[in-house]
Amino acid sequence: MSIKVTFHGQSCFQFEQGDHSLLVDPFFTDNPVAKCSAKDISCSHIAITHGHFDHFADCEGIAKANDATVFAAYEICDYLGEQGHEKCEPGNPGGRIEAPFGSISFTRAFHSSSFNGRYMGEPCGLMIEFGGAVVYHAGDTSLFSDMELLGQMYQPDISLLPIGDRFTMGPEMAAAAAELIGAPTAIPMHYNTWPPIAVDVTRFAPEGVEVLVMEPGDAIELSPETNE
Ligand code: NI
Ligand code: MN
Repeated sequence: MSIKVTFHGQSCFQFEQGDHSLLVDPFFTDNPVAKCSAKDISCSHIAITHGHFDHFADCEGIAKANDATVFAAYEICDYLGEQGHEKCEPGNPGGRIEAPFGSISFTRAFHSSSFNGRYMGEPCGLMIEFGGAVVYHAGDTSLFSDMELLGQMYQPDISLLPIGDRFTMGPEMAAAAAELIGAPTAIPMHYNTWPPIAVDVTRFAPEGVEVLVMEPGDAIELSPETNE
């Protein structure tokens, strides 16, 4: 069965197959490029890279509305519990959690993580195993050489990489990241949402990696070979 992958803008992606729907880094309400609103979203699971508002602001509302299980750093799960959402799977970099759709592994990201002034634990990348596909969502991060190791260990099919500069890698650094990770396809994210992270996407040009540019609202179908 193929997997539908939708890009909602900034770093928000949704993976859907059968009864499973995983939403990553939900950001709709204050997202100027989003094509739908938080109340239109239905999902069974949510995964969060870090607590910054452009990755987490709509998590609580969508999680409660859908009774969705949230995978996130320990401190983020703690916060959600205080808000009355207990259905959480806390983790931290290095850890893997099994899920009905596959698994979520937390990887290192070089960034910060807070929400309304509160420390939200370590920022993370996510290695997402979903319906036989492996997708690396880098979260917000700088370039780091262990990306090569992550590529060797997890052999992702796709990497989702921030290219907007200022808060994360810019396009040239992200191209180097794509080459280090070695996934055959890279999708740029976290750019052109606001002027401070406006970049020309054509500058994201890794060698030997196919670049797939998705506009907010775009969806693709994946058919992983290992998928049954
Ligand atoms: Ni951030
Ligand atoms: Mn961000």
